[in-house]
Amino acid sequence: MVNVLIIGSGARESALGQAFLVSPQVAQVFVAPGNPGMSLLGLTVLPVREDHFTALIAFARDHVALTFVGPEQPLAAGIVDAFTAAGLTIFGPTAQTAQLESSKQFAKAFMARHRLPTAQATVAHSLAEAQAAVAATGIPVVVKADGLAAGKGVTVALTQAAADAALVALYTDHPGASVLIEQYLQGEEASVLSMYNGTARVLFPLAQDHKRRNDGDLGPNTGGMGAISPAPQFTAAQHDQAVALVDQTLAGMAADGLAGSGVLYLGLMFTAAGPKLLEYNLRFGDPETQVLLPQVQNDFYQLTVDLLAGTAEPLNLTGQTYVGVVAAHPGYPKQTTPALPVLTPDQAARNYWLPAGVGLGANGLVTAGGRVFTVVGSGATLAAAQRDAYTKMAPLQGELAIRTDIGAKGLR
Ligand code: AMP
Ligand code: GLY
Repeated sequence: MVNVLIIGSGARESALGQAFLVSPQVAQVFVAPGNPGMSLLGLTVLPVREDHFTALIAFARDHVALTFVGPEQPLAAGIVDAFTAAGLTIFGPTAQTAQLESSKQFAKAFMARHRLPTAQATVAHSLAEAQAAVAATGIPVVVKADGLAAGKGVTVALTQAAADAALVALYTDHPGASVLIEQYLQGEEASVLSMYNGTARVLFPLAQDHKRRNDGDLGPNTGGMGAISPAPQFTAAQHDQAVALVDQTLAGMAADGLAGSGVLYLGLMFTAAGPKLLEYNLRFGDPETQVLLPQVQNDFYQLTVDLLAGTAEPLNLTGQTYVGVVAAHPGYPKQTTPALPVLTPDQAARNYWLPAGVGLGANGLVTAGGRVFTVVGSGATLAAAQRDAYTKMAPLQGELAIRTDIGAKGLR
């Protein structure tokens, strides 16, 4: 039996922890820094910050066979390089490869070099340059701050006033910032995830995130308010187009010397003119992971170590559809104080309650962040999975906020 260390603290890491814990080969799963809700799932919280590489390496050397990285920040900061240099086994991309996510300019240059379809974009370095780029692109327009922003650095501006407001806010906070001014794309959005090593890959079913805060895809962008998978609105032909873009990307990475393992996540927009890349993430998505991993019946530890050794196992899926609904602090994505109580799930609910921004208060669990937990429902169809998710959420929601329409687009 072996132990596994997961880096991160969200509902994605709760789902990863569950996946590793059911492996017959895994004794204990540590999560650093984790959150106090995770112990209810049988995970062991390790109170070490995700950027404290020396302490994580010292722990991993003595206690675990494999480390798996959830979030983008430690990847961009070189956690995989540091573990590898220390001779430890870790799944994830190097800092160089992680730039496909951490730098929108790096990603755009990569897509151009390898002829991957994406929205036209201009990089601006001042308010005047940005305003000129908006005028040249036309409205609607998309304004993206370069660098990691957890999905919140993007403004889809439907009016000139909204574009102006976004630019003035960005350049007031960060004078001289690199800002991408991008052509607006219309269509259905898909999250296409795979685990890879070189050009070998394990492809997950297509998922759909719900990034806007409010029902009907209104309100500000968030890290994600819910997800579904498989997403029935995508045709077999669209699925094949997505797979082709995954393989084209992996071939481009190999050609550029971006070697190694990791998760490749394509944010795709299926437009009238075909699929276009919105972004790359070099990690599992949150909340997509919460609806992807329950589909997988393979031993997830074995799947990961096989891939590290160069072998991509075929996935053995449950065939069910999954819907994940995020419970958030009512102030999210802005203010997430004061802390509110988080209802403790009963024993049965611990199979589908995945804690994220949860802390320990004087009288039990309290909120400690924007997205507090994900509840996952399942069923033979999307409609059944949606019903199951909301039925399971009802007794757990308390004072928290949810979207009530996760999966609605897939049912149309
Ligand atoms: P990103 O962080 O680049 O994925 O952007 C966050 C979200 O903003 C995406 O998931 C889309 O919903 C939206 N978005 C980003 N770029 C565009 C675009 N060019 N056209 C329309 N919507 C976009
Ligand atoms: N679900 C979007 C993300 O993980 O970036």
